[in-house]
Amino acid sequence: MMSFEEALSLLREHVKTENIIKHLFATQVLMQALARKFGEDEHRWGLAGLLHDLDWDYTKPTPDRHGLMSFEMLADKDLDPEICSAIKLHNYMLDIEPQTLMEKALYCSEMMTGFIVAVALVKPSKKLDDVKVESVLKKFKEKSFASGARREIMERCEPYLGITLEELVTICLAEMKKISGKLGL
Ligand SMILES: [Fe+2]
Repeated sequence: MMSFEEALSLLREHVKTENIIKHLFATQVLMQALARKFGEDEHRWGLAGLLHDLDWDYTKPTPDRHGLMSFEMLADKDLDPEICSAIKLHNYMLDIEPQTLMEKALYCSEMMTGFIVAVALVKPSKKLDDVKVESVLKKFKEKSFASGARREIMERCEPYLGITLEELVTICLAEMKKISGKLGL
């Protein structure tokens, strides 16, 4: 199995968009926390989170290729098939129903990291420290806020993972706060 160091050097080779690297760090720690919650393998779930937007820079002009290209790029790497399929189908545009718990977790949760960044950035301090679970939930209900954020995908945490949106926000925010320096927030 690929180490986190190897995964990071692969990312550095292909992803030059610094905000995406930060989003990937946040998704890694979120996926690790979800793995702990569900008694799953933290290393495997963390890798899925860390690598899920590997093709970001290449597929920006062709969003319907997002995920598919990462899947191809990872084919010869030392990763198990579930990680590769979770990465592929996290792109909801592909319209592939996630099946395993890891696939479902990545699919519905990765966007929450971006949503929390958006909430932090409207705080005067722009710091995660000033973001509370309640403020994230309030912004979630405001349809005009970060209007591109697909609420209905994140809300699938309930049917997919059996956790409420509030629980997802709580876990995600706590994990992101632990690495706020790395996230620059
Ligand atoms: Fe992502």
